[in-house]
Amino acid sequence: MRIAIVGTGYVGTVTATCLAWLGHEVTGLEVDPQRVGQLQSGQVPFYEPGLPELLTDVMTTGRLSFTCEPREALGAADIVFLCVGTPPGTGGLPNLSQVEAAAHSVAPYLREGVVIVNKSTVPVGAGNWVRTLLEEAMPRGVRPEFAVVSNPEFLREGSAIDDFLYPDRIVLGGDDVACAKVAGLYSRVLLQDFDGGRPTERPKLIVTDLPSAELIKYAANAFLATKISFANEISSLCELVGADVVQVLPAIGSDTRIGPLFLRPGVGWGGSCFGKDVSALIATGLEYGYSSSLLRAVVEVNQAQRAAVLRKLQTSLKVLKGRRIALLGLAFKPGTDDLRDSPALEIAERLLSLGAFVSAYDPVVKQLPDHLAAVRMGVDPYDAAEAADAVVLATEWGEFTLLDFRQLAMVMTGSLIIDGRNVLDCDAAVAAGFEFVGTGR
Ligand SMILES: NC(=O)c1ccc[n+]([C@@H]2O[C@H](COP(=O)([O-])OP(=O)(O)OC[C@H]3O[C@@H](n4cnc5c(N)ncnc54)[C@H](O)[C@@H]3O)[C@@H](O)[C@H]2O)c1
Repeated sequence: MRIAIVGTGYVGTVTATCLAWLGHEVTGLEVDPQRVGQLQSGQVPFYEPGLPELLTDVMTTGRLSFTCEPREALGAADIVFLCVGTPPGTGGLPNLSQVEAAAHSVAPYLREGVVIVNKSTVPVGAGNWVRTLLEEAMPRGVRPEFAVVSNPEFLREGSAIDDFLYPDRIVLGGDDVACAKVAGLYSRVLLQDFDGGRPTERPKLIVTDLPSAELIKYAANAFLATKISFANEISSLCELVGADVVQVLPAIGSDTRIGPLFLRPGVGWGGSCFGKDVSALIATGLEYGYSSSLLRAVVEVNQAQRAAVLRKLQTSLKVLKGRRIALLGLAFKPGTDDLRDSPALEIAERLLSLGAFVSAYDPVVKQLPDHLAAVRMGVDPYDAAEAADAVVLATEWGEFTLLDFRQLAMVMTGSLIIDGRNVLDCDAAVAAGFEFVGTGR
């Protein structure tokens, strides 16, 4: 099929590359000309393991191209994916201005029978809203038949290609004929009929109505955030009663009704999706006079978990003003360079506001937003920890498990390690003379 992908961020680029790899003819439409130039020359403008290699490979087939010109992308497209950003807006709901602009730019070029697939995460009702926007933006007298389908995306940054090719399920919401067309587009994924496919583990196809599909995405993210906040709440209780969360949570997770995933404590969840999606669900409830008490508590526990790092530093160091704190890990999780709503950044902001000096190291993040210009970036963990009073492990990148505590002790002024993810070797750190504070232990 001929596909147009509108918006080539994390979701759009992965979708475009994978669909082209599966044999479709794909054109990515993007407003940022610099991004188009990079993609067109085979470069991925963000960190995603395996994507640069796959993109380069697919570009040689001639089935994938990128453009800033709507006419070029849409003129022949059978299916148009909207993959633009839906960042946090006001009042908890996402800012849909990119969706609105995308609808306006594509409307004049749509072909008869085209299906518009909304992959951006949008609140319930946005499918209908997009349909009306498109109708209004069509030139007078031109009214091709078209359908809008919701196809929420569940990929995770850091494992996005695998998540696209081997999803647990594909959700489609809309009328049956349009959904069948989109299901056809995914047939090789559904049948696992490609080189490396896993025919014995075929994904589920879930076809439903538009609002249900839209809600499935929000509810899935809200549940995952709830599970992490639950783990963090149990972790806080462990610290109070003297239990060890590393024993407690796996024991809970070994119950098949509960499951072990997303049941680990940390410095709080973050990233581009959880915070805004939970807020959007709460705001949607409020539009109907429903107060989502559980979800509000999930957010509250998350904020407390981020603040707990500061409290632990204050408990050990007393005064933070003038201290140097080194943060290990800045991305909201390993495997990505995404800093959106990263707990590490909030911890850095709070430390700076308390008068501390902050240094940091992350394997892939090399630049921070302007408001964190005061953070000194180290070239490695030891450089970041130079003259530090304390080290805080905020993101569990694999390389941090190989830290040499004796080398760390030699460069630091103080001897405090806060392991916000329970991945460091506590015994080795203590043997090297550190005061070691884990999470929930
Ligand atoms: N990032 C994730 O892990 C993830 C996972 C699942 C779902 N989602 C959802 O998918 C959507 C996209 O997320 P993302 O992380 O890829 O966003 P992003 O911000 O990385 O990318 C959005 C892209 O769209 C482009 N764009 C904006 N307006 C445009 C327009 N009118 N025409 C063409 N291009 C335009 C931007 O320049 C940018 O390159 C969001 O709704 C998000 O919530 C994201």
